[in-house]
Amino acid sequence: MRTRTVLWASLVVENIGRLWTMDGTGLHGLGSIDDAEVLIDADRIAWVGPRAALPIPDLRGVPRIDAGGRAALPGLVDCHTHALFTGDRADEFARRARGESYAQIMVAGGGIRSTMRAVRAASAEQLCDATRPRLRRMLERGVTTVEIKSGYGLDVASELAMLRAARRLGEQGDLDVVTTLLAAHAVPPEHEQDPAAWIDVVTRELLPEVARDQLASACDVFVEQGAFSVAQARPMLRRAKELGLHVRVHAEQLSRSGGAALAAEVGALSAGHLEHASAEDIEALAKAGVVCEVLALAQVFLRGQRATPGRALVDGGCTVAVATDCNPGTAMSTDLPLAAGLAVTQCGLSAEEALRGVTVNGARALGLHDRGVIAAGKRADLVVLDGASPIDLVYRWGDARAHTVVSRGRVVVGPKPR
Ligand code: NIG
Ligand code: FE
Repeated sequence: MRTRTVLWASLVVENIGRLWTMDGTGLHGLGSIDDAEVLIDADRIAWVGPRAALPIPDLRGVPRIDAGGRAALPGLVDCHTHALFTGDRADEFARRARGESYAQIMVAGGGIRSTMRAVRAASAEQLCDATRPRLRRMLERGVTTVEIKSGYGLDVASELAMLRAARRLGEQGDLDVVTTLLAAHAVPPEHEQDPAAWIDVVTRELLPEVARDQLASACDVFVEQGAFSVAQARPMLRRAKELGLHVRVHAEQLSRSGGAALAAEVGALSAGHLEHASAEDIEALAKAGVVCEVLALAQVFLRGQRATPGRALVDGGCTVAVATDCNPGTAMSTDLPLAAGLAVTQCGLSAEEALRGVTVNGARALGLHDRGVIAAGKRADLVVLDGASPIDLVYRWGDARAHTVVSRGRVVVGPKPR
């Protein structure tokens, strides 16, 4: 607990039965406080601690939320999504159930390219209208920061349009949106014969424009057979770094393709999936400080996928985040608590590690140090769960609704402050 003189608060969240601040102190770094209160001053946390130590003895007149003895956590961070899209791919889900693989459907012109056709045909307004309800469902479960990737435009204008639409959703809505350029998500049909030519366009045209207009804070790539090779991805990621962007990699999802080693080599901020990561990959990721994203929804959605070695990643010294990967092909879900529950049962994380994965480590995967933790000076993002234990978030599958969500100091879900 940090002490600081607090003279005034714009909002108090009181009567929190158990608060996990995730501030790194105490058992598992959970910063557990029973019978806690949080004082908020505008968009920042002013004070957090046990009720008995409250620095303002008289809170009369300050708007208050009564958590009613429920548990609370920092606002959740979904650090890896493709939530901006139109259309769906239910037909592919059914085809996979009949035995076709994700890779076979991709080679046959479906998969990411199918969503690309839908996105290219949509107006910016249609794209935003299709996405807003997804973001609302995330918010209702306690997500206050979401990363959104492009990657369904696959030409210069459409990729820029996706990033602008994602940014607009963040400006208009209650969730903070962090954008990532994923122009190297699939080989565009126009460059079918020469994927390297598209990488060249991304490197020379798209990246400088994205960096100049601050349309994204990171550049991502899908390193996989049928998508892009390490040799193709490397110069693009290096250029992204030169331009001041973070780097992320979709690595080792369907086969061992070298994405993890590349992420370590270029000093990526994060690497996602890692189902096929080896012991050497894990060592390299840990050494390079790459945040590893466990995306357990995608793993079970695709059937027959091997499990991301979450336990080995943690034991190997990696910082592990958990995200939904929300997308129409491999994870048609907005449910971050469910993703965290699956990360426990399918990937070997402890419940506490999964909860760190959707809060403090999710923020780290985005390079953000102002959230994911409840402490004086951090962003006032907080979720009161509809249950007495913080573990309820990973335990009540499909049912982990938030009681109250505070985003940037404003109550955006739940009863109005009194
Ligand atoms: O993270 N693997 C690449 N990208 C996404 C899937 C996108 C899609 O199928 O539309 C993923 O699983
Ligand atoms: Fe993804």
